[in-house]
Amino acid sequence: MTISGSAKLAGVMGWPIAHSRSPRIHGYWLEAYGIDGAYIPLAINPDDLAECFRTLPKIGLRGWNITLPHKEAALKLVQRLTPAAERIGAVNTVVVQSDGSLHGDNTDAFGFIAHLTQTAPGWPSDRPAVVLGAGGAARAICFALLDAGVPEVRLANRTLARSQSLALASGAKVRPISWDTRAEALLGAGLLVNTTSLGMTGQPPLDLDLQGLPDDAVVNDIVYVPLETPLLAAAKARGLRTVDGLGMLLHQARPGFSQWFGREPVVDAALYAAIMKDIKH
Ligand code: ATR
Repeated sequence: MTISGSAKLAGVMGWPIAHSRSPRIHGYWLEAYGIDGAYIPLAINPDDLAECFRTLPKIGLRGWNITLPHKEAALKLVQRLTPAAERIGAVNTVVVQSDGSLHGDNTDAFGFIAHLTQTAPGWPSDRPAVVLGAGGAARAICFALLDAGVPEVRLANRTLARSQSLALASGAKVRPISWDTRAEALLGAGLLVNTTSLGMTGQPPLDLDLQGLPDDAVVNDIVYVPLETPLLAAAKARGLRTVDGLGMLLHQARPGFSQWFGREPVVDAALYAAIMKDIKH
């Protein structure tokens, strides 16, 4: 689709940026809705980040997504943070306000819950959840789960010190547990979430016996290459409901798109297929 001189503009900042899926996701929606707008990849060296935050609104950008390695640096470059960005300690979405000021949001928690709720409606949020991993994704997911009312998050990470520090930042409901006890932690849980890179193409599979999970538990893997990880295949074989990792990526893009381009976008099967095709190439 061609754009006019008054096209609405947004993009994604990272360094490097070529791997980002965001231009495809936003481009799909722009095309689908016939919007006069563009969403472009912005390769921004960390040394230039502050200057870009100052100048890009002046040339008409309505906002941008932030990916590695800028998510934490962005915290200090916006005038206001949403509670989610503040709690998660990272910004992935910037919206330029009408007075030119910048608002920083983190939509990972939103994306995680939106996809979980859509794929596994009625998931047991009144029971403990088990989260594997303690990186940036785990941080957003712990926040999302507490916000959804989960009574306890059992947090298992290979490096215990990292899960301890995440637990400290998240409050008493997040309990660090040792990596070796991850199978026992499944007893009585309503949800299991893998946020480690285990199970990703080229990585070893996650070694975990799912026997301890109750029959109505939900298994969510945030790895999306492959879409059906060995963990999700094992969960399906046990008859458990499963949630793939691609949906979180697609849903986290929604709040930025609706604010920059003025339309609430929908995550549907066609978008899934388009992005999967892109990932396979
Ligand atoms: P992100 O920010 O995307 O969550 P990350 O910070 O690189 O990514 O975190 C990757 C997670 O996968 C970490 O929890 C990591 O465990 P450590 O904190 O001990 O490094 C986990 N991980 C990676 N390889 C692993 C492996 N072979 N066994 C267990 N955990 C692993």
